[in-house]
Amino acid sequence: MKVTVVGAGAVGASCAEYIAIKNFASEVVILDIKEGFAEGKAMDLMQTASLLKFDTQITGSTSDYSKTAGSDIAVITSGIPRKPGMTREELIGINAGIVKDVSSNIIKHSPNAIIIVVSNPMDTMTYLVHKTTGLPKNKIIGMGGALDSARFKYRLAEALEAPISDIDGMVIGGHSDKGMVPLTRLATRNSVKASEFLSEERLEQVAADTRVGGATLTGLLGTSAWYAPGAAVSSMVQAIACDQKKMFPCSALLDGEYDLSDLCIGVPVILGKDGLEKIITIELDDAEKAKMQESAAGVKKTNGLLAL
Ligand code: 2OP
Repeated sequence: MKVTVVGAGAVGASCAEYIAIKNFASEVVILDIKEGFAEGKAMDLMQTASLLKFDTQITGSTSDYSKTAGSDIAVITSGIPRKPGMTREELIGINAGIVKDVSSNIIKHSPNAIIIVVSNPMDTMTYLVHKTTGLPKNKIIGMGGALDSARFKYRLAEALEAPISDIDGMVIGGHSDKGMVPLTRLATRNSVKASEFLSEERLEQVAADTRVGGATLTGLLGTSAWYAPGAAVSSMVQAIACDQKKMFPCSALLDGEYDLSDLCIGVPVILGKDGLEKIITIELDDAEKAKMQESAAGVKKTNGLLAL
């Protein structure tokens, strides 16, 4: 199992690190445009191998896509991260050109790769990769919901004063401050609805804190987060590599599901060896349906800025 991670920045490096620590891939190639940077990150990570007890071979490459040839899975993290006060949508001008170029290079050398898109604005970048490569829709998946759901569970655990392992919850919709739809109605603590323990106002606060999860960290760190994004991508990579048939909310190209078409947005999907193997349609209530439509309108507006 060969995995390529394009972009040796903090998210790409964390993703490579978690993949290696989980020890399910034989090879990880990190690629970056900055001379020597990916090679340096790869060497540093390899020097943790004996300590952390993994056998994954990590190598780095400066812009040489021939080193990525034959990858089973490729993760795109390239592009600029947001700075405090910026929205993810504001990154489109620079990141669209980068992501287009990266995705073409990936499939040139790894025509069978399943591509996971992390670069922001993620739903629009996922749509761009679909349009650029024309690959079947199971092969291009956007990472947003897995991360947003992890942040939702963190906030739920905080509100419930419970361990995170007790908590279940999911965020669908666009990966943006306004577009996320945390499904508070369905959130549970060990199968008991969170609403049994928390007031409607407290649950609304949990949802609001979740939606600005990335922005809060950008404010604190001065750049966007990397540990949780890296962990979220590595879990998706593992689900595909190990054919786990796990359910994650991911950005998927929709064709009528949730009454939406011709966009990529977060919905629950099954991830296995064929990538995005199935879109799960769940019954939403009227308020959730309205939020989903509003979120989709926001994603489509950003998609409209692409020069397709
Ligand atoms: C985040 O929310 C990087 O978009 C990512 O942290």
